[in-house]
Amino acid sequence: MTANTLPGQPHIAYQANALCMENVKLADVAAQFGTPVFAYSKAAMLSALAAYQRGFAGRKVQICYAMKANSNLAVLQVFAKAGCGFDIVSGGELARVLAAGGAPEKIIFSGVGKTRAEMKQALELGIACFNVESEAELEVLNEVALSLGQKARVSLRVNPNVDPKTHPYISTGLKGNKFGIAHDEVIDTYKKAASYPGLRVVGIDCHIGSQITDSAPYLDAADRMLDLVDAIEAAGIALHHLDFGGGLGIDYAGDTPPSADALWAQLFAKLDARGYGDRQIMIEPGRSLVGNAGVCLTEVLYLKPGEDKNFCIVDAAMNDLPRPTLYQAYHSIVPVAIDGTTPPVTCDVVGPICESGDWLGRDRTLAVKAGDHLAVLSAGAYSMSMASNYNSRNRPAELLVEGDTHHLIRERDRTEEQWANERLL
Ligand code: LLP
Repeated sequence: MTANTLPGQPHIAYQANALCMENVKLADVAAQFGTPVFAYSKAAMLSALAAYQRGFAGRKVQICYAMKANSNLAVLQVFAKAGCGFDIVSGGELARVLAAGGAPEKIIFSGVGKTRAEMKQALELGIACFNVESEAELEVLNEVALSLGQKARVSLRVNPNVDPKTHPYISTGLKGNKFGIAHDEVIDTYKKAASYPGLRVVGIDCHIGSQITDSAPYLDAADRMLDLVDAIEAAGIALHHLDFGGGLGIDYAGDTPPSADALWAQLFAKLDARGYGDRQIMIEPGRSLVGNAGVCLTEVLYLKPGEDKNFCIVDAAMNDLPRPTLYQAYHSIVPVAIDGTTPPVTCDVVGPICESGDWLGRDRTLAVKAGDHLAVLSAGAYSMSMASNYNSRNRPAELLVEGDTHHLIRERDRTEEQWANERLL
């Protein structure tokens, strides 16, 4: 059998014209579980993690998987078993980590709008650190911690004002963003944090954006953050850890992000040069651990030739895969089986939802007919975790592929569940 790997997808390949994830034929998955359905390769996740681990050999690093990228319990379990902690942004995510067997003491809590109830929940569980984003949040966290007789461990998220050169919706480290403490106010805010009896300052963090495909913004942000560390420690406030956030991009369409180990070799060279090489490091990668581990399988319902455009209408839609319509994101779309007889057409791949924004791919050349299956690639991150029930559609099932077996890790929604919490008058 000839294996023909797809760019950026080492664990997905055609074997004798049948698309396989590891050793599982994706056509069989579609037939057994119906479509749309997500499948994730465990080996792909672990090899993405291994690239980080190689870059961290001999260093003190805690990888905290940013679970908003894909929060399925089994996915969390894979990372927890591999030693990861978690970067969370809500009480719901915290509860998921516990349900998946993750360790509270390896959790960091990010986000600009933590509620008192979420702070209490996290303090009672003894999480590692709160990444605090404003003075107002410091005040509230101090109050909540004191009411529990605790000292909350805090890190301040600094806004380094660096352009990550990514989509504006996922760029977070510029002055105009709602995130982090402005560069000029950082020292005063640290002094304030250190003076609160209910807080213990332990770190500093920054996260400049997502789908970053160049090392330069990371290196600039690191320099700016280390300048701040120099100044904060000169002011007498010791920092136990430095958290560089997440953001490393993946190959969606010929993108060429640095590999995690190459990026970290550069970052450690900088840290070593500035005397911080043996400091405890934290990172919060999301997309780069799961994005290219997943596909969404969908069935072609109809081919609809048009005057200006042809449409390939499939059974997955913007509620299952929101990235194209939200960020004009490109996901490769490939046939699950190559039959060699169907003529190719150029078409927009669209879903059944009643909006023109419901598209998954534009101007794609595909040789498919009704009843065939397509795979939307790079769908392991920010796809199912952002899926909704819009148009009262059931969210897809999810599978984890492991070698030549697969596990159902989430059943497809059932329609009655959609209104289980609603009440007739
Ligand atoms: N840490 C913080 C504080 C974050 O806000 C994020 C992502 C991460 C870590 C993980 O970033 P990653 O390594 O995944 O790039 N829905 C968008 C992406 C939103 C990212 C939000 N924050 C998309 O589909 O492109």
